[in-house]
Amino acid sequence: MFIYFDEEQQIFHLQNGKISYIIGIEKEKYLIHRYFGPCIKQYHQCNELQRIDRGFATNPISHERTFSLNTLPLETSTQGNLDYRISNYQFRNEEGHRVTHFQYDHFHIYEGKPTLKELPPLQGEKAHTLSISLVDKKQSLEMLLHYTIYEQFPIIVRSVTYKNHGTQNVYLENAGSMLVDFPRCDFDLLTLNGSHTNEATIHRQKLHPGVQMIGSTRGVSSPQHHPFLGLVDKYANEHYGTVYGFHFIYSGNFIAQVEVEQYGSTRVQMGIHPDTFEWKLSAGTSFQTPEVVLNFSDQGFQQLSQTFHAFYQSQLIPKQWQKKERPILLNSWEGNYFQFTEEDLHKQIDLAKELGIELFVLDDGWFGKRNDDTTSLGDWFVNTDKLPQGIEGIADYLHQRDMLFGLWFEPEMISIESELFKQHPNWCLQVPHYEPTQGRQQLVLNLSLLEVQEYLIEMLSRYLSSGKIDYVKWDMNRHLSDVGSFALPHDQQKEVSHRYVLGLYRILSEVTTRFPNVLFENCSSGGGRFDPGMMVYMAQTWTSDNTDALCRSKIQYGYSFLYPPIMMGAHVSESPNHQVGRKTPFHSRFLIAMSGNFGYELAIEKLPSDLLAQIKEQVLFYKKHRSLIQFGKFYRIKEIDDFYATAWLFKNDEEALLVYSHGLARPAQAVQYIKTMYLDNEALYEDSEDKKIYSGSELNYAGILVPRIKEDFKCFYKYWKKVS
Ligand code: DGJ
Repeated sequence: MFIYFDEEQQIFHLQNGKISYIIGIEKEKYLIHRYFGPCIKQYHQCNELQRIDRGFATNPISHERTFSLNTLPLETSTQGNLDYRISNYQFRNEEGHRVTHFQYDHFHIYEGKPTLKELPPLQGEKAHTLSISLVDKKQSLEMLLHYTIYEQFPIIVRSVTYKNHGTQNVYLENAGSMLVDFPRCDFDLLTLNGSHTNEATIHRQKLHPGVQMIGSTRGVSSPQHHPFLGLVDKYANEHYGTVYGFHFIYSGNFIAQVEVEQYGSTRVQMGIHPDTFEWKLSAGTSFQTPEVVLNFSDQGFQQLSQTFHAFYQSQLIPKQWQKKERPILLNSWEGNYFQFTEEDLHKQIDLAKELGIELFVLDDGWFGKRNDDTTSLGDWFVNTDKLPQGIEGIADYLHQRDMLFGLWFEPEMISIESELFKQHPNWCLQVPHYEPTQGRQQLVLNLSLLEVQEYLIEMLSRYLSSGKIDYVKWDMNRHLSDVGSFALPHDQQKEVSHRYVLGLYRILSEVTTRFPNVLFENCSSGGGRFDPGMMVYMAQTWTSDNTDALCRSKIQYGYSFLYPPIMMGAHVSESPNHQVGRKTPFHSRFLIAMSGNFGYELAIEKLPSDLLAQIKEQVLFYKKHRSLIQFGKFYRIKEIDDFYATAWLFKNDEEALLVYSHGLARPAQAVQYIKTMYLDNEALYEDSEDKKIYSGSELNYAGILVPRIKEDFKCFYKYWKKVS
């Protein structure tokens, strides 16, 4: 049994042999968090609750001064009466009052998981769900807390449904997805932060009294803060220690916060950011929050990552892409930018074919009058000056050569200089009396409008139904501003940010369902909206606009905490690199790019013959090892250091590939052995270079020597095949 209710103890216990999550009902009314961690077979409340008459505590049962909801570990906050810590929800009624008294009412246990209306749902294979209902009887409000446990993963998925059963409208000023209290605060906080071209840097800091918070109010999850936080043992590292990970399945504004409170407990809360949100919960309606994945590891970050990788590969991305190999691509962007002719593209395609490349992606610049980034978004008709035979012509050219064709769109945007803007000036996000603010000289379409959604679904379907487009790169290059909609009354304007995201999900869901064989790549100036919400529809993301190999090793390293390499687009680009001007060896650029979803993004026709010969070899190498890289396990085996040196390992049952990246050359290079750590101890492996046989245990524990390296940005690989 994966979930049971112990009537006598008034305890809910979710367990799967790996983890237990335990919730208690106190005084028949209140939900108390009792435990989340390694599986407990039988639970008899040895960790009894601390009941002390605390100063300044409020007591829901007036004479029971040792019982206070402000000091107990809870499963959700209370509002305006009892609990002063960060809150998970906030209602306001029509009289303007913000007090509610929610109490436990009933529960429901069932197989599978909630199917989220309008939101990106995780799949529910071998999943079991507990939904606990809390009710405020005075105002006829209900809160359903959902907990899903999977049979095979140390994961709990949480969300909330807020319901108004009354006859009056209420306003949800905050609709959090998850709150939990841990009875300790000796954790470090782990977050992934950054910026455009510098995404996913791992930050680790000590928890301290008060609130530590990350979030986004930019309309998207953002490159600044990834919608993730980890609570980790002070001594935890890659391979050791307790680690809790919280990951939000949402692509809009979010908040992720922790509070260390007065008596040393830690509250974690995650949800849509309340600063840019409010929802009119009319009588008889409900509001469903996005989901949060709670991941537990007692073997450090590595195990946390292994769980995320396996879980997302099987329960997050679209089913049809879970086991499907990804093609090697040539993307036109950094090689051409906006300047190309059909003839140029034909030359590039012919050469790409010769080199063994399988997919050609025509990036920005193919439509309207788009010769730079100031115009034409919205005018999704081909520029026949550049492409006289149209999109079909290029697609046919590729298909005749047995190659795939991919096309770039930025559907959510509109240029002021466009036909679309002339026809529909009110389709962009805007508020009365103000000129909407531009970013990259473009405005954002108001995706909360049904007619805009319909227009985009129809426009994309028109292209995709030709059957000639195998791949779509879906880009989004600015954040939301002037968030308002003429279609909503004044008391619903604060709904627009969330409605935008719901509109986006509707379009994505519709288009990806209609065209399941088209591979979609998620992009927002690189990793600007790399989040699990988008990955429900699109199996991969363009990781970063920064294609410099050194920077990429750090960015991909950061994202690998949460996502497997197959979900991260990575391309070999020019040297000096266009973003940072760095010169790096061609071979290193290859090894870093092939450690993700592999492709090229440079003017191949301008490359000297020796580099073309290298590309041919690289492509062959990748094809040979593709299934290992895309579907094997990925382990970080050397923590990235101050010189940016790092190493990782791909492994399956038959083989293993190690990539070492040295970063900066250094004086007095220390002696260093890279230990593979995760090979099969009992097996023997043959080295592809010297053909020597090594045991798994020696590679794991003794390791291989890092040779003396007198060169910046040098990378090398080792490949071993299991021989017995
Ligand atoms: C930003 C993307 O991340 C790039 O790869 C490229 O597609 C440009 N937009 C095109 O405008």
